[in-house]
Amino acid sequence: MSTILISSLLLLLLVFFLKQWCHLTDKRRLPPGSMGWPYIGETLKLYTEHPNTFFFTRRKRYGNVFKSHILGCPCVMISSPEAAKSVLVNQAHLFKPTYPPSKEKMIGPQAIFFHQGNYHLKLKKLIQASFAPSVVKGSVSEIEEIVLNFLPTWEIHALICTLRETKKYAFEVAMISAFGKNQEPEMEGIKHLYQILEKGYNSMPMNFPGTLFNKAMKARKQLNEALTRLIKKRRGNKKLYNEGGLLGILMRDQEQKMNSLSDSQISDNIIGIIFAAHDTTATALTWLLKYLLDNPHVLQAVTIEQEGIQCTLVEENRGLTWADTRRMSVTSRVIQETLRTASILSFTFREAVEDVEFEGYIIPKGWKVLPLFRTIHHSADFFPQPEKFDPSRFEMPPRPHTYMPFGSGLHSCPGSELAKLEMLIFLHHFITTYRWKAIEGEDGIEYSPFPVPKRGLPIEVRRKKYKA
Ligand code: HEM
Repeated sequence: MSTILISSLLLLLLVFFLKQWCHLTDKRRLPPGSMGWPYIGETLKLYTEHPNTFFFTRRKRYGNVFKSHILGCPCVMISSPEAAKSVLVNQAHLFKPTYPPSKEKMIGPQAIFFHQGNYHLKLKKLIQASFAPSVVKGSVSEIEEIVLNFLPTWEIHALICTLRETKKYAFEVAMISAFGKNQEPEMEGIKHLYQILEKGYNSMPMNFPGTLFNKAMKARKQLNEALTRLIKKRRGNKKLYNEGGLLGILMRDQEQKMNSLSDSQISDNIIGIIFAAHDTTATALTWLLKYLLDNPHVLQAVTIEQEGIQCTLVEENRGLTWADTRRMSVTSRVIQETLRTASILSFTFREAVEDVEFEGYIIPKGWKVLPLFRTIHHSADFFPQPEKFDPSRFEMPPRPHTYMPFGSGLHSCPGSELAKLEMLIFLHHFITTYRWKAIEGEDGIEYSPFPVPKRGLPIEVRRKKYKA
């Protein structure tokens, strides 16, 4: 009798432990995938293979949710619209934004990108107010003036690097967006410091005298001091106080509200906006010129549209208006298709704030989560013949969460209207005034860190004959 009792007890215990173990292993079920080499993981592959190849081979092998290891961190990559929506929108509270500490130090730890919760919401409201269509529409003539001053400088060189030049343009637009139209004498110093900072942004974070990182960190400190002085100066002068730009909006909020932003919070966000606004837009413009070169029938359609608008401007003897840019439907679709095909941000980073059960897997606390915009944009399920550059696909709106060039949810891009406007104004003048050709044998792709045409797309630019 006692043997039967002991055997039954042992059996019960075994069942109990088996159940516990199954529960544990089931709960700890990680998504499939490869973690690559120790420490470096799959980082080298990610930054040397064509991004489409990297993501597609893994998605084919493992499905829409797979694990990997990049930039020293274990991560889960997700490539279905529904899963991306869960991470960025529905369960956004479980996935916080995350950046390498060196980037945070360089941009400024109080910049919007690094935050969740009330501080993020407060900033987002203010930044969105500064870049809403109703505000952006007032900058058409300033942006046009920048384009008109800038394009003739392309003519004097036999060869130009498109990316380098579009960066200069996007930087000038970012400066007026951040500081307003009337640029003060301090601006030259601020621009100079920002350029040193930028050179160190993608450098190895080694803080020794002489390294790019070290120079960038010194410039960052000086930039903070210069911005603090500018804020104090504007505060002391009623006229300057009401100057436009994001700085004006942030300072007015500071004046009107208790518990509002500190000067250093304002500085970090001004630098953050310049950072977010110019590399992305310049890369998109570079791809635009590349796709137009590769697709002459698309270039022809855009040229016809832009020349039609140009005729109206000549007849009415005026510059571009917001209303003109709303009539650029063909060009707008070309921009949409460029943002899909190039997917300027191939993915973004989040971090699981706790163990999260996700699509039958567990994402452990602290793991990075990467919604793969590029893979979704290149999926034949949502964009038939995805490798074909076909702006007409945007004659119909894409399915929700299949098209996210500007992200989605709480952290989606507040600068999308400005970026599109910048591209439209640039294209209007560039296409109606110039023809351009690429240098033979220069096809290819590089990472800087966004995928860009090889060597930044060197081109030869010539003024069209019929233009004075
Ligand atoms: C073609 C140009 C641009 C592209 C492709 C782009 C793309 C993106 C994407 C995908 C995000 C979301 C990142 C995430 O979820 O982690 C984002 C965020 C952001 N973008 Fe843009 N962007 C562009 C231009 C601009 C411009 C012109 C501005 C200037 C106002 C800007 C300011 C920002 C800011 C401040 C955020 C962070 C928002 C937040 O954290 O709440 N971007 N952008």
